[in-house]
Amino acid sequence: MLLPLLIAVHVIGVVLWIGGVAFVTMVVFPMIMRMENSLEKVLFFQGVEHRFAKIAKTSVVIVGLTGVLLLHITGEWNIMFKASGIGPTLMTVVWVFYVLVLMFEGRLFKAIFKGEAQQDTAKVFYRLSVFHWIILGISLLAIGVGVWAGHGGSF
Ligand code: HEM
Repeated sequence: MLLPLLIAVHVIGVVLWIGGVAFVTMVVFPMIMRMENSLEKVLFFQGVEHRFAKIAKTSVVIVGLTGVLLLHITGEWNIMFKASGIGPTLMTVVWVFYVLVLMFEGRLFKAIFKGEAQQDTAKVFYRLSVFHWIILGISLLAIGVGVWAGHGGSF
């Protein structure tokens, strides 16, 4: 009873979080890149990211807590960093990466929007968009591998 419930909560957290990343990557960035005015681009982007950061932070906590509980209940600690534990291992790597990005988000934004951004916002948003495609790809890979490995698929 507890195991399926935890997986359900875990996956709902993943849907809200990675779904948001997909929306920002596939909808918000193309909109921003079509805007003419640099200031408009920066303000719109910061508005969206600021709002989404709260959803992402809450989801990261829920997914992390339920993930650790799942490892505990299933005893999958033992297969972490082994071929048979590729699902939870990849999930943990993705999770740690997002935690680091969210922790240093303020500093990252300052670094990104200072200097070069004033001269060439188009270039900065292009790079940010590529970065988002990469993290979205890695996240989807973790989901695909997690579901595959969790339902009898082997590597
Ligand atoms: C600290 C981080 C995390 C830990 C410790 C963790 C661990 C686990 C464990 C133990 C399971 C259930 C058993 C299994 O399928 O092997 C599970 C299920 C799942 N996790 Fe994670 N996870 C974490 C983060 C994530 C992240 C970041 C994602 C998505 C990018 C994710 C996606 C999923 C999915 C989709 C399932 C359901 C698999 C299924 O049963 O079909 N998890 N997780």
